[in-house]
Amino acid sequence: MRVLGIITSYRRLGNTEILVKEALLEAQKLGAEVHAIRLPKLTVKVCKACYHCFYEECKLGDDVDWVFEEIAKSDAVVLGTPTYILSVPGILKMVMDRVLSLFPKAERFRRKPAALIVTAGLRGWEGFAVPMASLFLLIQGFRIIDRLVAYATGPGEILMDEEVIGRAREMGAKIIRALKGEKILPKTEENECPICGSRALEIRGDVARCPICDLTGKIEISNGRIRIKFPEDPYEHSKWTEEEWREHFEWLKWTVQEYFRKRSQIEQLRAKYASFDPFISPTKSRE
Ligand SMILES: Cc1cc2nc3c(=O)[nH]c(=O)nc-3n(C[C@H](O)[C@H](O)[C@H](O)COP(=O)(O)O)c2cc1C
Repeated sequence: MRVLGIITSYRRLGNTEILVKEALLEAQKLGAEVHAIRLPKLTVKVCKACYHCFYEECKLGDDVDWVFEEIAKSDAVVLGTPTYILSVPGILKMVMDRVLSLFPKAERFRRKPAALIVTAGLRGWEGFAVPMASLFLLIQGFRIIDRLVAYATGPGEILMDEEVIGRAREMGAKIIRALKGEKILPKTEENECPICGSRALEIRGDVARCPICDLTGKIEISNGRIRIKFPEDPYEHSKWTEEEWREHFEWLKWTVQEYFRKRSQIEQLRAKYASFDPFISPTKSRE
């Protein structure tokens, strides 16, 4: 049993690192081999949208392929991230954008257990951090078995909250139980997406739809109270199935073919914009 912690905070011994380590220590105690990666310490380049990775290995040559290999080698993942400006730190999004390189490798659609820890400074200021961090796991096919949102500001301040430390420890134990075959679902609050935890749902007639998971639930109103009834087996009704992964990749490849079919026409239309260069840059300004 190999459990990998992924930490998106640069802070050494910050709140996220401590909670992920607490979960990993428990998993280790229960027999797992544990490792951790701190994403901001790695070289991560921006996706150039060249789609080269659909056909051959990504050409950027940074540490992201290594991250995906380490994830592939692991049986479970504990992702820990702070909230930055109502969402996740950019480093997680940068790695997430590189996930297109996994699409040709259907075996990388994992269906393995994952747990999520989100830290934030202030309750109610988590914004989209939980669903955005969940997305990193879901798009790789992970099944989220537990999630924890913890509040602290200064580095390590989370240690003053024994209850939350206990929850992180419990998360480590849950990961091991899931690895031993137990079906575990995260505790979900009323009217949030049972998969990614999003509370931002689209209302369409008598259903509510999670824009991340493409999961719909029926809206029921009783005594002036709204209740969204999501399916019992939410993953099967969401976009996080292997079939959807394959279909989406086929669609992506089709868009590339379509582009080449229309390319000469597009090139003619592009000419107007190629001759117009309004860009400024720090080097140009210094000249
Ligand atoms: C750039 C930046 C942006 C932040 N934005 C938010 C925010 O939008 N909402 C919030 O609740 N906390 C926010 N925080 C606070 C952190 O999420 C919080 O302090 C967290 O515990 C830090 O975890 P760490 O110690 O692992 O880095 C922000 C912190 C930083 C540095």
